[in-house]
Amino acid sequence: MKILAIGDVVGECGVNFLKKALPQTITDYEIDFTIVNGENALPGSGISLNITEDILAAGADCVTLGNHAFNKKDVEKAFDRYPTQIIRPLNFDGSLEGEGYTVLSAKGVRIGVVNLLGRIYLSPINCPFLAMDKTLEYLNDKTDMIFVDFHAEATSEKKAFGYYVDGRVTGVFGTHTHTPTADEQILPGGTAFITDIGMTGASDSVLGLKKEISIGRIVHHKKARFDWADTDPVMMGVIFTVDDATKKCTHIERIKITEG
Ligand SMILES: [Fe+2]
Ligand SMILES: [Fe+2]
Repeated sequence: MKILAIGDVVGECGVNFLKKALPQTITDYEIDFTIVNGENALPGSGISLNITEDILAAGADCVTLGNHAFNKKDVEKAFDRYPTQIIRPLNFDGSLEGEGYTVLSAKGVRIGVVNLLGRIYLSPINCPFLAMDKTLEYLNDKTDMIFVDFHAEATSEKKAFGYYVDGRVTGVFGTHTHTPTADEQILPGGTAFITDIGMTGASDSVLGLKKEISIGRIVHHKKARFDWADTDPVMMGVIFTVDDATKKCTHIERIKITEG
């Protein structure tokens, strides 16, 4: 069985390219289940009900989020309409809208997806490691395999998390930095891991942001509005190959789809 995870979809360029590239990618790679991180899908970050529907229609089975999950209030409508298909980080305060994990099925296999948010160089939040422990107790006998989108800034925190859950989940992929890492591997306990899977959006940009705006902010301290770039789209992600009998990951492979 093959599970595809796609990195942060950024702005209109990212959504449009996802719509174009994802269906063909699912066919080409014979994907059975797709997870897409959509936390930056709206211009300026966040997600809406309409964009959630666009991402699901493009072929995603599950949409995950991150530190920008609640940037736009419209996300609550998406949680109401698709309570099992769009999730937000589990370790946000429990009183907030939405769930932090879901169990869906593909080819008769029960697939758990958990979304967590890191704490290093990000705003204070409940411990993602301990939140995962608690949720695993619940998910273990309700799932055949479990994948985690660990949305975090620090590579050290993501790698530590990979080892922390090694042998207890099927696969862990990092999101948030919009920059893919080349460290995909099967950890000693059998969990497939990659620190970051990159982004979907304009590659001629600074992490999806128009480069002139980014340079202005960084070099000249100009308080310009965030504006997403729209040239040279790319879709980045990772494919987990899982053995049908053992439900263990046998292979993890990065993909990068460009236009043409
Ligand atoms: Fe992001
Ligand atoms: Fe993020």
